[in-house]
Amino acid sequence: MKQLFFESLQRPDGLIVIKLAGMFLLIAVFLWQPNEAFGQVDPPTEVEQARQDEAESTKGQPKKSVKPGINETFLDPELSVDDYVTRFEIESREIYDLRHELLRLCDIKPGERVADIGAGTGLFTRMFSKATGPTGWVFAVDIAPRFIEHINRDAALHNLKNITGVICQEDSVTLPPDSVDVVFICDTYHHFEYPEDTMASIHRALRENGRLYLIDFIREPEVSREWILGHVRAGQAEVTKELESFGFELVEHIKVNRLQENYMLHFRKKR
Ligand SMILES: C[S@@+](CC[C@H](N)C(=O)[O-])C[C@H]1O[C@@H](n2cnc3c(N)ncnc32)[C@H](O)[C@@H]1O
Repeated sequence: MKQLFFESLQRPDGLIVIKLAGMFLLIAVFLWQPNEAFGQVDPPTEVEQARQDEAESTKGQPKKSVKPGINETFLDPELSVDDYVTRFEIESREIYDLRHELLRLCDIKPGERVADIGAGTGLFTRMFSKATGPTGWVFAVDIAPRFIEHINRDAALHNLKNITGVICQEDSVTLPPDSVDVVFICDTYHHFEYPEDTMASIHRALRENGRLYLIDFIREPEVSREWILGHVRAGQAEVTKELESFGFELVEHIKVNRLQENYMLHFRKKR
């Protein structure tokens, strides 16, 4: 190397060659941007790989939905995100009204990786982004492309750099194995048309000591509103039984002051 350096100095164009090499080096250093939060690991690349693997493994397998048509409006390519912002992010919705308390109960720590499954308009995604901080990451996962486009746009607008929007499949969240510390499912479990497969993909994605928080509507005949009885297929006891059969165990039924139409459960993977 030393010899090459001195030899090139003796050539008439030697200095120019060295100057050019130096310039290339400077440009390369300038363009290289390490991912500060994850070192060598790039969450968007991980997700794309997981999505392709999943698509390959489930190709051509017909399945039976437990609630056919429930997601029709969300999958509409003409879906008006603004309409849903005014429905999901309004004080008269108790989930929105109590959002800070629900976030506090999830006990998110800086640096954690959170999956917001059925992220919708991104109400909780934004809160998780701030709670996990620059060393953490949030996967906003939804089957509705329009919601994910909105979340990506919103994240760029507010300079929230630790969010990856994931358009998932109806039977899989398409996250890489062991990729998240926390899974959050708010008013979305009853929208899963293939709960066993979706929960299997969540089981794979959740790390060994990870936490799963599930919030959903209380469904009790003669207590719940008619709309809930028709729209939500299973109540708290049935949902708990299903999750237990999918490899999770209930840690705690979290009591939330003033939460009247919803319940909040904390699960972990069965040991
Ligand atoms: C009632 S919204 C709740 C949105 C948000 N979690 C909130 O509480 O504001 C239900 C969301 O679940 C999404 N969804 C339905 N099935 C899903 C599935 N299998 N996987 C991921 N998201 C799904 C819908 O597109 C919709 O955005």
